[in-house]
Amino acid sequence: MTDTLTLTRPDDWHLHVRDGAAMAAVVPATARQFGRAIIMPNLRPPITTAAAAAAYRDRIAAAVPAGLDFTPLMTLYLTDNLPADEITRAAEAGVVALKLYPAGATTNSDAGVTDIRKTYPVLEAMQRAGLKLLVHGEVTDPAVDLFDREAVFIDRVMRPLRADFPELKVVFEHITTKEAAQYVAEAGPFTAATLTAHHLLYNRNAIFLGGLRPHYYCLPVLKREVHRQALLAAATSGSDRFFLGTDSAPHAAALKEASVCGAGCYTALSALELYAEVFDAAGALDKLEAFASHHGPAYYGLPRNTGTVTLRREPYTLPEAVPFGDALLKPLRGGETLAWRQTV
Ligand code: DOR
Ligand code: ZN
Repeated sequence: MTDTLTLTRPDDWHLHVRDGAAMAAVVPATARQFGRAIIMPNLRPPITTAAAAAAYRDRIAAAVPAGLDFTPLMTLYLTDNLPADEITRAAEAGVVALKLYPAGATTNSDAGVTDIRKTYPVLEAMQRAGLKLLVHGEVTDPAVDLFDREAVFIDRVMRPLRADFPELKVVFEHITTKEAAQYVAEAGPFTAATLTAHHLLYNRNAIFLGGLRPHYYCLPVLKREVHRQALLAAATSGSDRFFLGTDSAPHAAALKEASVCGAGCYTALSALELYAEVFDAAGALDKLEAFASHHGPAYYGLPRNTGTVTLRREPYTLPEAVPFGDALLKPLRGGETLAWRQTV
C-alpha cells in the first residue's frame, strides 16, 4: 500500500477566491497546495477589463503568505457587450482565458451571456490570440430540468460552438455528467475538461443524506451515481484532456445555511487530500500526478511547476469552520477525519 505520495507541485485550473478580507482568508490555503490557479472573475461587479484583472491579480498576490510561490492566472468575464479589442489588452496583461457564464446559470452570473452568437467577434479575437474559453456548461432554459441542463448544453451550445471555432481552446468546466465526459473524450485536442473533487466523491444523495445539506449544494448540481462513475473513469483514464479544477467556491456559512442557499463547496482547505482519497479509492494513485500536475500545463501551453508537494496517509481532522473576513466559512467535510494529509 502506498503511504506517501510526492507529486510535482500541482495547479488548480478553476478557483474562486472572492475579494477583500474574504479573499485574504482563503488564498493561503490554495497557495500552500498549488503553484498556480485559474481565478474566476465572477466578482460583483465582474472582472471585465484587462486593467481590472491586473489589479485583482495584485490584490491576490498580496494575500499570498511569505515564502510560498503561487501565481494567480487571470480570466475575464465574458458579456454580451465585451468589446473585441479588450482581447488584445487582455493578452498583453497576461490574462489567459475568458469565462462564459450563461446569464443566470449560477452565482454572480447575471451579467453573463444571453446568446453566445453575440460574443462571436470576441471569440474570433480569442482564437487568434490563443486565449482559452472556460465554459460553465449549463443551459438556463427554465423548461429544462435542472439535472439535465449540462447534457442539453452540449447539443444546444457546445457542438455549434466547436463547429464555428474549431481551433479555439475550450475548457468544459467542472463537468458532472457521463454525457460531458464522453463529449470531451471525443472532441479533439482543443477541448478539455476540469473535474472537481466533490463531483468525483459524491453523487446527489449527498445533498439529502439525513436532511438537506447545504454545504453539498453547488452548480452544476451533483448528479446520479452513474455520472459520478463516468467522471471517475475520465479522471483516472490517463487522458490528458481531463485535469484538476477544484471549483472551490467559498460562501459565508450564514449564507449557505439559509432559506436560499448559495451554490458552492469550499474545498480549497484540503483539495489535494480529497483528490488523493478519490484516486486511492479507485486504485489509481499512480494517475494522480498527471491529472493534478501535468495535463493542465500541457493544455495551457505552460511549463510544469518546479518543486513538489507530499501527502501522507495520516488521519487528519478538518476544522468545522474557519474565519472568512468577519464571517465563518465551513469547508466541505468540516469536522470529519480525512485519510490523507499534506505534509510539505
Ligand atoms: O457552485 C458554484 N459556485 N458554481 C458556480 O458556477 C459558481 C460558484 C460560486 O461562485 O460560488
Ligand atoms: Zn466555478
